[in-house]
This record gives sequence, structure tokens and C-alpha cells, in this order.
Amino acid sequence: MFPRMFDYLIDHPAGSPEFHAELRGAADALTTGEADAVANMANLAALIWQLVPDLNWAGFYRVQGDTLVLGPFCGRPACIRIPMGRGVCGAAAASGTSQLVEDVHAFPGHIACDAASRSELVVPVIVDGQVIAVIDLDSPLPGRFTPADQDGFEALAALIASRIREM
Ligand code: SME
Repeated sequence: MFPRMFDYLIDHPAGSPEFHAELRGAADALTTGEADAVANMANLAALIWQLVPDLNWAGFYRVQGDTLVLGPFCGRPACIRIPMGRGVCGAAAASGTSQLVEDVHAFPGHIACDAASRSELVVPVIVDGQVIAVIDLDSPLPGRFTPADQDGFEALAALIASRIREM
């Protein structure tokens, strides 16, 4: 059907497994059948921004060689290039593991793109064993993200990985 309107709403408590299942469902519906990686990342960033409360930044960094390059996002303009291993995003990309940071001021090497950020969750997006991107979420609230959020966004990353791979 064209044009389509996307009117997503989640009734479950933010951060619950049911909330994350619905977020994944919406992400799935939004990206199914679309091959353009940039379009999919843009819509996913907007979806997360709309549905996940208490964020001041939500988006993607893409792995390009030994650098992370800014991708589609919602929030304030951000650092464009982050060396692999640097900051929270670089740590997630280099290690291939999620970084759940309750207090960014206590994270060595944290890169402050927005002074309002107090906590952060970065989840790697992996295709064929390779980290191709990270999902970066920042919050102005300390300790905003829970292990359940990490599980939820890891499942989301697995779902959308092949749909944000740039050819
Ligand atoms: N804080 C991140 C940098 C990206 S911005 O927050 C959007 C980091 O330390 O990797």
C-alpha cells in the first residue's frame, strides 16, 4: 500500500520484555522488504526516538575499516568519526559486546557529544560474525538503561542486522 502512515504506539511499560517485543515488531514491519540500508537506519532511529522514553540521542555508527562513522540518528549533531576502541561506541564495536554504562562520567574515554548525556547503551550489530555498526542510545538520566533494555536492543540488533548492511 502506498502511501503508508506509520502510527506505532506501545502500551506496555517501557523496558519490559513485552515493550521490547512490540518495538521489535514495529521495527520488523518498518524494514521488511526494504533493501536500502540508509532508509532503514533512518526509520529505525526515528522509531526508537519516538517510542523509547528518556533519550537525548538515538542512532547508528557504521564500521568503516578502523573507524566508526556517524549514521542516521535523532538528537543533537554528533561526532562524525570515532576511532575503533575509543569511547563507549568504539568499545562496543571493538569487542563485539554491548556496553551498558550507568554513569558516562565514570567511563574512561567517554566521548561527550551532548553534555546532557548521563547514561548510555551501545549494542553492536553483527553480520556473519563481523560488527557492521552499533546502535547508540544516550539518556539524560543516570542509570537509565537496564539489563532488560540490553537484551531487548540486542534482539532488535539481530533482527535488523541484515537490513542495515550497506552494499
Ligand atoms: N558517547 C559516545 C559518542 C557518540 S555520541 O554520544 C552520539 C561514545 O563515547 O562513544
